[in-house]
Amino acid sequence: MAEKFYVTTPIYYVNDVPHIGHAYTTLACDVISRYKRSRGFDVYFLTGTDEHGQKVETAANANGETPLELADRVVKRFQSLWEKLNISNDDFIRTTQERHKKTVTEQFLKLQAKGDIYLGEYEDWYCTPCETFWTETQLHDGSCPDCGRETTKLKEESYFFRMSSYGDQLIKHIEENPDFIQPKSRRNEIISFIREGLRDLSISRTSFSWGIPAPGNEKHVIYVWFDALTNYISALGYPDDKDGLFEKFWPVNAHVIGKDILRFHAVYWPTFLMAAGIPLPKKVFAHGWWTVEGQKMSKSLRNVIEPNMLADKYGVDPIRYFLLREVPFGLDGDFSHSSLISRINSDLANDLGNLLSRSTAMLGKYFDGVLPAPGPNDEIDKAFTGRFGPANEKIDKLYDDMAFNKVLQTIWELISAANKYIDETAPWSLAKDPAQQQRLGTVLYNLLEAQRLIALQITPFMPDTGAKILEILGVNPNTTLQNNDSWGELAAGTEIAKAAPLFPRIEAGE
Ligand code: MSP
Repeated sequence: MAEKFYVTTPIYYVNDVPHIGHAYTTLACDVISRYKRSRGFDVYFLTGTDEHGQKVETAANANGETPLELADRVVKRFQSLWEKLNISNDDFIRTTQERHKKTVTEQFLKLQAKGDIYLGEYEDWYCTPCETFWTETQLHDGSCPDCGRETTKLKEESYFFRMSSYGDQLIKHIEENPDFIQPKSRRNEIISFIREGLRDLSISRTSFSWGIPAPGNEKHVIYVWFDALTNYISALGYPDDKDGLFEKFWPVNAHVIGKDILRFHAVYWPTFLMAAGIPLPKKVFAHGWWTVEGQKMSKSLRNVIEPNMLADKYGVDPIRYFLLREVPFGLDGDFSHSSLISRINSDLANDLGNLLSRSTAMLGKYFDGVLPAPGPNDEIDKAFTGRFGPANEKIDKLYDDMAFNKVLQTIWELISAANKYIDETAPWSLAKDPAQQQRLGTVLYNLLEAQRLIALQITPFMPDTGAKILEILGVNPNTTLQNNDSWGELAAGTEIAKAAPLFPRIEAGE
């Protein structure tokens, strides 16, 4: 039976329109999903929207619509963006769906029956925009330590989750599972947070009504994080599991999130799961944040980068490539139009695009576009063709660490090696000597076969480009890596026409 792979994005708030930060997480999950499918895994890729809470209620009131009307309107913007960016999610969960509400309600009842949810009273400093309570010591000069805005002291009746009971068990889990929190640099931050002592967590509110009611006490709605995090199991049909998805896909292989919501995923969520007796996620990976031309991206600075606009201007595949190539996943990065343009011109148009047009042009010129059978390999050929097996193995390991930029670097090392191989073997000189005809055929075969393997590795990042290269090479564009990643599968006799440029160069200022 195929190995399974379950990966999730955070569910996005519907009080904001999608920007590159959201697209980044979703793209990363898409790339790894496509890679794993290509390797024969049975993949479940989940994304969705987080639709409850005070912010949505307030925004809807201000617009004169109901919260659900607002959610219905904004969710389409996410869904159409994912379609445009070629996102291959298997499911899309909305927290307003019945299937989700049912799971949250049942989770609540289960933990309540166990004594892990109890009714108490809450008093603390609340940041409304962040929907987060802070203790006195966490505040920065009385303001929210996350967003810097004013906080207010709130006291209200609230249900609590007995998070304090699970700190030791969680530390033990983190220590025994070194890959649980990635990147590694973030583990210590979480461990020290837990060591400071976990307080019981307030998980309901009476101050607004847009949410899932607490069962049996409907003046309370369940607080957003208890509601939102549960999406990762409600989408699988937990606990009824009529379709067997939970049984098959849980525990999740990776929750991919931004660094700002790591605590919710690496502390709150695992303790909810422990209380419910559900196995913990295998990995929580927190990526960094994008700034724009050196500045924080924000509506007030009017510098929010909309992926829709970028895709229209530069094309979907170049954007997908750039976002995952530019910055190591896990670190912060800066978006600038000039670095995007220079990557498109140098990596895509020059390195990748020229390689294909040069080699297909030579095949046309010297062999009428019909791929010859290769003769024996010389040392120089062996050095070149021998790179591909180890590169495939290296890439597979890099995916386990979500090191997308290193995967792309490794692919581009192959592309550079191929360009260098042309310069070193100088097919144009071989073509002048009829005695070198077989040697010339070997060189061109090796070049084009290399590009078949390169295209297979590129496809998760740039699905259209990968398919296009395969088609040019006369290979079925749906070919996967599994069983097709060893050297020498391109069939002699295949007709390969001269390829038009894959990526037009972009002049600065365009
Ligand atoms: N609804 C919660 C998540 C609940 S998950 C159970 C939420 N939503 S969000 O829409 O505000 O953010 C979603 C993701 O976008 C987060 O992972 C966040 O890190 C990411 N980003 C928001 N701005 C970003 C950048 N500027 N750069 C990179 N990622 C950013 O939080």
